[in-house]
Parts: sequence; C-alpha cells; structure tokens
Amino acid sequence: MTWPGRYTDTGLFVCFEGGEGSGKSTQSRALHAHLTGLGHTVELTREPGGTAVGQEIRRIVLSPETGVLADRTEALLYAADKAEHVHQVVLPAMARGEVVITDRYVDSTLAYQGAGRALAPAEVEHVARWATGDLRPHLTVLLDLPPEAGLGRFDGRDRIEGEPLAFHERVRSSFLALAAADPEHYLVLDARDDVEVLAARIRDAVAPLLVAQAVGTPA
Ligand code: TMP
Repeated sequence: MTWPGRYTDTGLFVCFEGGEGSGKSTQSRALHAHLTGLGHTVELTREPGGTAVGQEIRRIVLSPETGVLADRTEALLYAADKAEHVHQVVLPAMARGEVVITDRYVDSTLAYQGAGRALAPAEVEHVARWATGDLRPHLTVLLDLPPEAGLGRFDGRDRIEGEPLAFHERVRSSFLALAAADPEHYLVLDARDDVEVLAARIRDAVAPLLVAQAVGTPA
C-alpha cells in the first residue's frame, strides 16, 4: 500500500527528527521562541508524551523498569501516542490556523521500530500512517548526527538509548533515506554545526512556509 500523505491547508506543522543527542529539543525551542516573538500562536510539543495519555505511554516505553517489550507492543504503544497526539493537539491547532512544532513524529517510528527493531518496515508504516490518518508535517527538519557522537552525550540511558550502536546506525540511515525520498518536505542539517547557524537555517526554511500556509499575519 502506498501512503500519499495528507497536508492541512491551514496551519503549519513542523517536525524535528534525528538521533539521540542531535539537538532537536534545543532547536525546536529556539524556533518556538522565534515564532512566538513574531506574534504567532505556536504549540511546542513532542512524541512520545504530547498528551496526558502520551505521558503515560512515554513512561512505559522509555523507562528501563519496563524491561523487555515485544517489538510489536512497542510499535503499538508509540502508534497510540501518535493517534492521541494528532487527535488532541495537532489537528485542532491546524484547524485554528496555528503553528505546531513537534519534537519527533512518524519518521521516528519508521526509523526506530521499522529499521531499528526486527519488524517489517511496511507493516510499521501501515500502523503509524493509520494511527495519524497519514497526516504529514509541512516541513521535517532532520538533525543528522553520527550515533557515536550523540550517544556520548548521555550518562543514564533509557530503553532506546541503551540499544547497540548498530541499531542507532540503522535509525540514522532510515532518517536519511526518508528525507532523500521527499526533499520538498525535508531540511537535512549537520547537527554538529554551530547552534546559531542551525537555528538561522531553520528560520530561513520556515519563513516561506508561514506565507504559503497563510499563517504569516500574526494577530
Ligand atoms: P526523546 O524524545 O527524548 O528524543 O526520546 C524519545 C525516544 O523514543 C527516542 O529514543 C526515540 C524513541 N522513539 C521511538 O522509538 N519511536 C517513536 O515513534 C518515537 C516518537 C520515539
């Protein structure tokens, strides 16, 4: 089955993706501050954990106390988080013509569960696209980083960070392949570049989208 993707006509949906320690949170916060400063209404959110139910799911999927989860269970938990997030947070904001910035979205499950785990990628994609109604970000910013660089930034590792380097290499390759297959909707950056330089490139990529999506006129 092919998934054509659904893009809202109103609002602007921006996603940050990347491996562990790639600076997604820093850059998503910087973009949020920039757009809020321009007068836009901006929701800064994340997966897993962008809703009350999602926070419960986040605890289950990331806590080392959870121990081993079946790969399919993990994929379904992440999918449930996404379904709730899209329904409760993203689509309502899009309908109001606002900006949503999410730290991770569907590409994370395609990369971590689809390429990282021993699951059939097409099946993982089916579940994730179904969970989200195939809603796509207008722009995904991929902060690309060799896993050994990002993982070095963590002392205490959660369930996913604790996976071997080969797992994280598969995740990285998957993110890059997703971006290469749809360049119109991706901005790929080297996460090792200077934080300010990265923030400026992201602002430059988002500016025309604010106009195209008619969220260019702050209240
Ligand atoms: P982070 O939000 O703190 O970066 O961490 C979330 C972790 O969950 C990260 O290791 C990636 C992983 N993850 C998945 O495996 N699948 C998903 O669909 C999402 C959103 C995250």
